[in-house]
Amino acid sequence: MAVDILLGLQWGDEGKGKIVDVFTPQYDIVARFQGGPNAGHTIVFNDQKSVLHLIPSGIFHPNITCLIGNGVVIDPITLRKEIEELEKTGIEVRSNLIISDRAHLILPTHKLLDRASEEAKGDQKIGSTLRGIGPTYMDKTGRNGLRIGDILSGDFLMKYQLLKEKHTHILHKLYDVDYDLNLDEDAFLAAIEFIRSLQIKNTESFLYQKIRENKKILAEGAQGTLLDIEFGSYPYVTSSNTTASGACMGLGIPPSSVNRVYGIFKAYCTRVGSGPFPTELTGEMGENLRQAGGEFGATTGRPRRCGWLDLPLLHFATRLNSITDLIMTKADVLSDLESIQVCTAYTSGEGPTMEIPYDLEKSSFSPMYKSLPGWNTDITQMSQSMELPENLKSYVYYLEQALHTPMSFLSVGPDRDQIIEM
Ligand code: GDP
Ligand code: IMO
Ligand code: MG
Repeated sequence: MAVDILLGLQWGDEGKGKIVDVFTPQYDIVARFQGGPNAGHTIVFNDQKSVLHLIPSGIFHPNITCLIGNGVVIDPITLRKEIEELEKTGIEVRSNLIISDRAHLILPTHKLLDRASEEAKGDQKIGSTLRGIGPTYMDKTGRNGLRIGDILSGDFLMKYQLLKEKHTHILHKLYDVDYDLNLDEDAFLAAIEFIRSLQIKNTESFLYQKIRENKKILAEGAQGTLLDIEFGSYPYVTSSNTTASGACMGLGIPPSSVNRVYGIFKAYCTRVGSGPFPTELTGEMGENLRQAGGEFGATTGRPRRCGWLDLPLLHFATRLNSITDLIMTKADVLSDLESIQVCTAYTSGEGPTMEIPYDLEKSSFSPMYKSLPGWNTDITQMSQSMELPENLKSYVYYLEQALHTPMSFLSVGPDRDQIIEM
């Protein structure tokens, strides 16, 4: 069984980029399976911080194949920019990067449609990153989309014009918006030329072959389980399957090839964009967490909403993804607190439950909290589990019991080196 999956258990930004970068040396291939440039995955080493949106987080290690799978939606402008910026810093990208010919293309008009749709929703808006994700997946499932493979055919421009006209019609008739497409369209067409020169492949066949050769593959999730189109806090979700089964679909690999499923979460909770957040801290405590954790979006710079860890939601996510190993990040951010609150259940008229209500937003329930003692120790320089303060070990043990899953790693800071194997 050659494939391991690493995915987020909350609303994204759990630290996936950092952990994928740490794990990469044990793998031959790192593959993104869904989402697109709405993702922002941060990697820190040698005092340098990099944020990746489309390229898998294995790219900083030499001789590792980084693969963008069929389930990903690609903005050619972002991809080109990302490759050129990495190459400027001396990172070898082109010989290590493979792109699925089935991955769908984000057109400039998809981004305009995203914005128009959000504006039309008023105070019901999703809080989208406005990267064109929703409209592109809509065209994919509506069977109108353009794929990377199309850019290799002679009639690409004609296909592009047809889809663009469909979009501009919707923009005029449905949304009645003004826009100027020219600049973006020039950059788009230039980026398409650039992408033609990259390694575009039937990646499901490539991966099939690599699995047969017993090569090791790490599937890198984007967003998080609570943003999944099926199981997230709908409609405040993204438009792809962020869960473990999404890795099979988004790479064309059989479920039987999957070995470990790493579920990553923060020691507290954050959310960027709209939607329900039962344990949200809106006052001073929330602001303190935001500042201490540097909780500002890696893609849009928006402040992230912060709150306590929510065990009913984490339990749901662990179960849904069949997580074999937990990874907790950012425990260092809580180091100054005397005590830490954890939501252990929801309560409504019928007493405490771990079940998630159908509509988190409209159901009337309250989170029930347990207070655990803080550890009041700087853990950022620790590298062995036995060095950890007792109260943090107890916190970890408590979570392992509640989630029926072992904790394999603890991240104690943003840097590649700040990691403890448990
Ligand atoms: P991703 O989208 O899941 O890859 O996560 P982001 O990169 O959007 O956000 C995670 C943020 O937390 C980034 O700024 C990381 O550098 C940082 N980070 C990751 N792990 C840790 C950790 O254990 N402690 C601290 N303090 N920061 C971390
Ligand atoms: P990474 O991979 C956090 C959120 C947006 C919005 C909703 C829908 O860095 O964890 P979309 O642009 O997909 O239409 O937005 O999903 N969102 C994320 N939040 N991390 C992400 O990615 C996200 N990608 C999308 O804020 O609420
Ligand atoms: Mg992120």
